Amino acid sequence: MSTMSNQYVNDLIGTQFGDFTLQELVGEGTFSHVFRAVDRQKNDKAVKVPRPFSSGRDERFEFLPTQVFIKRGQRFTPQEASPVHILRIQVARTKAVIDQGMVRIEDYSFDGETSHCRMPFLSGRTFRDYMRSGPVPITVLRNLTLTLSRLNHMDNFGYHGDVKPENMIVTNNGVILVDCGYFGNVNVGERLDDAQKTLIVTTPRYYPRLLPDDLLAFGLILWETAMRTPLIESVAYSGDYDSDTVSDRLNDIVAEEEAIGNFNFTGVMGAEKPSAVREGLPPIIDNLLLKAVRLKFNDSNLLDIDEGFASFEELADELRKLSQAGIHYL
Ligand SMILES: Nc1ncnc2c1ncn2[C@@H]1O[C@H](COP(=O)(O)OP(=O)(O)O)[C@@H](O)[C@H]1O
Ligand SMILES: [Mg+2]
Repeated sequence: MSTMSNQYVNDLIGTQFGDFTLQELVGEGTFSHVFRAVDRQKNDKAVKVPRPFSSGRDERFEFLPTQVFIKRGQRFTPQEASPVHILRIQVARTKAVIDQGMVRIEDYSFDGETSHCRMPFLSGRTFRDYMRSGPVPITVLRNLTLTLSRLNHMDNFGYHGDVKPENMIVTNNGVILVDCGYFGNVNVGERLDDAQKTLIVTTPRYYPRLLPDDLLAFGLILWETAMRTPLIESVAYSGDYDSDTVSDRLNDIVAEEEAIGNFNFTGVMGAEKPSAVREGLPPIIDNLLLKAVRLKFNDSNLLDIDEGFASFEELADELRKLSQAGIHYL
């Protein structure tokens, strides 16, 4: 363990953020450290503190990085961003959201060194740990689908934007989402065209087209849950795959995405039929997983684009059918 090596975190333990004293580091991500904290009445809370630029990582908390992009016109460019700025955006998006499946922001401050936000302390483990430890019940996946459905229907929220296994905490009261992403306009600079920029804060493995598409992100998580390995692992470039096994339509779409600097979508070209990899998977699961990631094998048995599920409700129905067919775990 490298807990002792992170002097920055050690120095924070015991310090005060609002009425709460930091007790121990319970998680970290690209932009922040999250601590368990208590007040005088011994109430437990989670306090999220934006990272200083140079802070180290703790080996206990392996995570897939969230990335920042600027989209100008059609083009995507990776971007450096300040963790405090990212937390401000997140708090602004989340503070009005009240849902049993999403963590509540109870308090926040952006006062220099003590910038933070405070949440209920969720005791449990991340979905990443949970899925590694064994098969996942269909009921858990269906409940997540229903949470995302509610969030997607909220006028003041509309999308989570960074649904991934490290941002989902499995508790005794179900799976709770934390840490939303962002797809929105930023007004920096005074020139007219500066106003056209879109800031994107998300994880390309689950948002490969860099669109605020939670339905595809969740489909990719379903795939990874069932297959024990992600569909899109790393960035590939044209030519890294065998284009003879892929339909012209899919090839064209990938070429279009690459032309605008988006190399994340190429990863789908490696898809195989799930049952070809995990022997004995029933066809009902093959179909569900392929459709969830918007792929299919066409009449010529080439990998092709599919429309996928139209909504979380439709996906929830399909998950219910799995249960009815006697399949209770993925
Ligand atoms: N309210 C909470 N209660 C308990 N643990 C939390 C809470 N919020 C976050 N965590 C843990 O801290 C980790 C990092 O938090 P997160 O909000 O995802 O930060 P980042 O924006 O840096 O990714 C999460 O993966 C999770 O393990
Ligand atoms: Mg996170």
